[in-house]
Amino acid sequence: KARLAILLSGRGSNMLSLVQATKTGALHGLAEVAVVFSNQPDAPGLALAAAQGCPVASLPSQGRKREAFDAEAAALLQQYAPDFVVLAGYMRILSPAFIQPFAGRILNIHPADTHQHQGLHAYEWAFDNKLAETKITVHLVDEGLDTGPILAQEPVDLRGADTLAEVERRGLAVEHRLYAQTLAELIKKARHAERSQA
Ligand code: GAR
Repeated sequence: KARLAILLSGRGSNMLSLVQATKTGALHGLAEVAVVFSNQPDAPGLALAAAQGCPVASLPSQGRKREAFDAEAAALLQQYAPDFVVLAGYMRILSPAFIQPFAGRILNIHPADTHQHQGLHAYEWAFDNKLAETKITVHLVDEGLDTGPILAQEPVDLRGADTLAEVERRGLAVEHRLYAQTLAELIKKARHAERSQA
Protein backbone atom coordinates (compact mmCIF):
# COMPACT_ATOMS: atom_id res chain seq x y z
CA LYS A 1 0.00 0.00 0.00
CA ALA A 2 1.14 3.55 -0.69
CA ARG A 3 2.14 5.40 2.46
CA LEU A 4 0.61 8.85 2.87
CA ALA A 5 1.88 11.73 4.96
CA ILE A 6 -1.06 14.12 5.28
CA LEU A 7 -0.19 17.71 6.23
CA LEU A 8 -2.63 20.22 7.69
CA SER A 9 -2.70 23.50 9.57
CA GLY A 10 -6.31 23.75 10.73
CA ARG A 11 -9.71 22.11 10.58
CA GLY A 12 -8.78 18.89 8.82
CA SER A 13 -11.93 18.06 6.84
CA ASN A 14 -9.90 16.99 3.79
CA MET A 15 -7.63 14.89 6.01
CA LEU A 16 -10.70 13.21 7.51
CA SER A 17 -12.16 12.40 4.10
CA LEU A 18 -8.83 10.90 3.00
CA VAL A 19 -8.56 8.79 6.16
CA GLN A 20 -12.10 7.56 5.62
CA ALA A 21 -11.30 6.79 1.98
CA THR A 22 -8.40 4.55 3.08
CA LYS A 23 -10.78 2.69 5.37
CA THR A 24 -13.87 2.26 3.23
CA GLY A 25 -13.63 4.43 0.12
CA ALA A 26 -11.62 5.10 -3.04
CA LEU A 27 -8.26 4.52 -1.31
CA HIS A 28 -9.20 1.26 0.38
CA GLY A 29 -6.51 -1.35 -0.31
CA LEU A 30 -4.42 1.26 -2.14
CA ALA A 31 -3.11 3.57 0.59
CA GLU A 32 -2.53 3.84 4.30
CA VAL A 33 -1.86 6.87 6.48
CA ALA A 34 1.77 6.85 7.62
CA VAL A 35 1.41 10.10 9.57
CA VAL A 36 -0.72 13.21 9.89
CA PHE A 37 1.58 16.18 10.44
CA SER A 38 0.93 19.79 11.39
CA ASN A 39 2.97 22.95 11.75
CA GLN A 40 0.33 24.01 14.31
CA PRO A 41 0.49 21.70 17.33
CA ASP A 42 -3.01 22.75 18.43
CA ALA A 43 -4.67 22.35 15.01
CA PRO A 44 -8.14 20.79 15.45
CA GLY A 45 -7.34 18.45 12.55
CA LEU A 46 -4.50 16.85 14.48
CA ALA A 47 -6.81 15.83 17.32
CA LEU A 48 -9.31 14.51 14.77
CA ALA A 49 -6.56 12.40 13.18
CA ALA A 50 -5.48 10.97 16.52
CA ALA A 51 -9.11 10.08 17.26
CA GLN A 52 -9.13 8.16 13.96
CA GLY A 53 -6.15 6.13 15.16
CA CYS A 54 -3.64 7.81 12.83
CA PRO A 55 -0.03 8.39 13.89
CA VAL A 56 0.36 12.15 14.40
CA ALA A 57 3.33 14.49 14.61
CA SER A 58 3.80 18.23 14.84
CA LEU A 59 6.51 20.83 14.76
CA PRO A 60 5.63 24.46 15.55
CA SER A 61 6.55 26.76 12.68
CA GLN A 62 5.87 29.98 14.54
CA GLY A 63 8.93 32.20 14.77
CA ARG A 64 11.05 29.85 12.66
CA LYS A 65 12.97 30.73 9.50
CA ARG A 66 11.33 29.05 6.52
CA GLU A 67 14.34 27.08 5.24
CA ALA A 68 15.34 25.80 8.67
CA PHE A 69 11.79 24.79 9.58
CA ASP A 70 11.21 23.10 6.22
CA ALA A 71 14.44 21.11 6.46
CA GLU A 72 13.50 19.89 9.92
CA ALA A 73 9.93 19.08 8.89
CA ALA A 74 11.17 17.13 5.84
CA ALA A 75 13.60 15.13 8.00
CA LEU A 76 10.83 14.33 10.47
CA LEU A 77 8.50 13.19 7.69
CA GLN A 78 11.18 11.04 6.08
CA GLN A 79 11.20 8.91 9.23
CA TYR A 80 7.70 7.81 8.18
CA ALA A 81 8.91 6.86 4.67
CA PRO A 82 5.94 8.38 2.82
CA ASP A 83 5.32 7.57 -0.84
CA PHE A 84 3.18 10.71 -1.15
CA VAL A 85 3.02 13.94 0.82
CA VAL A 86 -0.58 15.14 0.70
CA LEU A 87 -1.22 18.78 1.58
CA ALA A 88 -4.68 19.19 3.08
CA GLY A 89 -5.09 22.78 4.18
CA TYR A 90 -1.38 23.07 4.96
CA MET A 91 -1.09 26.83 4.96
CA ARG A 92 2.57 27.28 4.16
CA ILE A 93 4.56 28.02 1.04
CA LEU A 94 7.11 25.25 0.69
CA SER A 95 10.79 26.02 0.15
CA PRO A 96 13.16 23.82 -1.89
CA ALA A 97 14.47 22.32 1.37
CA PHE A 98 11.09 20.69 1.81
CA ILE A 99 10.26 19.95 -1.80
CA GLN A 100 13.50 18.30 -2.91
CA PRO A 101 13.29 15.11 -0.82
CA PHE A 102 9.73 14.51 -2.09
CA ALA A 103 9.96 16.02 -5.57
CA GLY A 104 7.09 14.90 -7.81
CA ARG A 105 5.35 13.21 -4.87
CA ILE A 106 3.72 16.22 -3.18
CA LEU A 107 0.05 16.91 -3.90
CA ASN A 108 -2.09 19.88 -3.00
CA ILE A 109 -5.78 20.67 -3.23
CA HIS A 110 -6.72 24.24 -4.08
CA PRO A 111 -10.30 25.49 -3.88
CA ALA A 112 -10.13 27.37 -7.19
CA ASP A 113 -8.69 27.07 -10.68
CA THR A 114 -4.96 27.59 -10.01
CA HIS A 115 -4.69 29.43 -13.34
CA GLN A 116 -7.17 32.02 -12.03
CA HIS A 117 -6.47 32.26 -8.32
CA GLN A 118 -3.48 31.37 -6.15
CA GLY A 119 -2.87 31.47 -2.42
CA LEU A 120 -5.37 32.00 0.36
CA HIS A 121 -9.11 32.82 0.50
CA ALA A 122 -10.17 31.25 -2.78
CA TYR A 123 -13.81 30.77 -1.72
CA GLU A 124 -14.04 34.43 -0.63
CA TRP A 125 -12.63 35.35 -4.04
CA ALA A 126 -15.26 33.26 -5.84
CA PHE A 127 -18.04 34.66 -3.63
CA ASP A 128 -16.95 38.30 -3.86
CA ASN A 129 -16.66 38.05 -7.63
CA LYS A 130 -20.09 36.37 -7.86
CA LEU A 131 -18.70 33.54 -9.96
CA ALA A 132 -21.32 31.18 -11.38
CA GLU A 133 -18.78 28.39 -11.18
CA THR A 134 -15.44 27.73 -9.55
CA LYS A 135 -13.07 24.83 -10.10
CA ILE A 136 -11.50 22.62 -7.47
CA THR A 137 -7.93 21.76 -8.47
CA VAL A 138 -5.65 18.92 -7.38
CA HIS A 139 -2.08 19.53 -8.47
CA LEU A 140 1.50 18.47 -7.95
CA VAL A 141 3.51 20.93 -5.90
CA ASP A 142 6.53 22.63 -7.37
CA GLU A 143 8.48 25.60 -6.09
CA GLY A 144 5.95 28.24 -7.14
CA LEU A 145 2.73 29.24 -5.40
CA ASP A 146 0.01 26.97 -6.84
CA THR A 147 1.90 26.61 -10.13
CA GLY A 148 2.48 22.83 -10.30
CA PRO A 149 1.05 20.48 -12.95
CA ILE A 150 -2.69 19.92 -12.61
CA LEU A 151 -3.79 16.33 -11.94
CA ALA A 152 -7.55 16.91 -11.82
CA GLN A 153 -10.12 19.68 -11.84
CA GLU A 154 -13.82 19.61 -11.16
CA PRO A 155 -16.30 22.45 -11.51
CA VAL A 156 -18.59 23.52 -8.68
CA ASP A 157 -21.89 25.14 -9.62
CA LEU A 158 -22.22 28.31 -7.53
CA ARG A 159 -25.46 29.63 -9.02
CA GLY A 160 -27.84 30.56 -6.21
CA ALA A 161 -25.13 30.23 -3.54
CA ASP A 162 -25.92 33.45 -1.69
CA THR A 163 -23.65 33.12 1.33
CA LEU A 164 -19.94 32.37 1.68
CA ALA A 165 -20.88 29.40 3.87
CA GLU A 166 -22.94 27.93 1.03
CA VAL A 167 -20.09 28.46 -1.46
CA GLU A 168 -17.76 26.61 0.92
CA ARG A 169 -20.25 23.84 1.58
CA ARG A 170 -20.63 23.09 -2.12
CA GLY A 171 -16.89 23.36 -2.73
CA LEU A 172 -15.83 21.15 0.15
CA ALA A 173 -18.18 18.38 -0.94
CA VAL A 174 -16.32 18.30 -4.26
CA GLU A 175 -12.89 18.62 -2.59
CA HIS A 176 -13.52 15.64 -0.37
CA ARG A 177 -14.50 13.36 -3.25
CA LEU A 178 -11.98 14.64 -5.81
CA TYR A 179 -8.90 14.40 -3.59
CA ALA A 180 -9.32 10.72 -2.70
CA GLN A 181 -10.29 9.83 -6.27
CA THR A 182 -7.31 11.64 -7.81
CA LEU A 183 -4.88 10.12 -5.34
CA ALA A 184 -6.29 6.66 -6.04
CA GLU A 185 -5.75 7.14 -9.77
CA LEU A 186 -2.20 8.36 -9.20
CA ILE A 187 -1.34 5.36 -7.02
CA LYS A 188 -2.78 2.95 -9.59
CA LYS A 189 -0.72 4.62 -12.32
CA ALA A 190 2.44 4.40 -10.21
CA ARG A 191 1.74 0.68 -9.65
CA HIS A 192 1.34 0.02 -13.37
CA ALA A 193 4.57 1.87 -14.08
CA GLU A 194 6.40 -0.23 -11.46
CA ARG A 195 5.00 -3.46 -12.91
CA SER A 196 5.94 -2.64 -16.46
CA GLN A 197 9.49 -1.87 -15.33
CA ALA A 198 9.82 -5.13 -13.44
C1 GAR B 1 -9.67 23.62 2.04
O1 GAR B 1 -10.73 24.31 1.42
C2 GAR B 1 -8.46 23.59 1.12
O2 GAR B 1 -8.76 23.43 -0.23
C3 GAR B 1 -7.88 24.95 1.39
O3 GAR B 1 -8.00 25.13 2.78
C4 GAR B 1 -9.15 24.41 3.24
C5 GAR B 1 -8.72 23.50 4.36
O4 GAR B 1 -9.84 22.90 4.96
N1 GAR B 1 -6.54 25.08 0.92
C6 GAR B 1 -6.01 26.21 0.45
O5 GAR B 1 -6.63 27.25 0.38
C7 GAR B 1 -4.57 26.10 -0.02
N2 GAR B 1 -4.19 27.32 -0.69
P1 GAR B 1 -9.71 21.57 5.78
O6 GAR B 1 -8.64 21.81 6.87
O7 GAR B 1 -11.06 21.37 6.40
O8 GAR B 1 -9.32 20.46 4.85
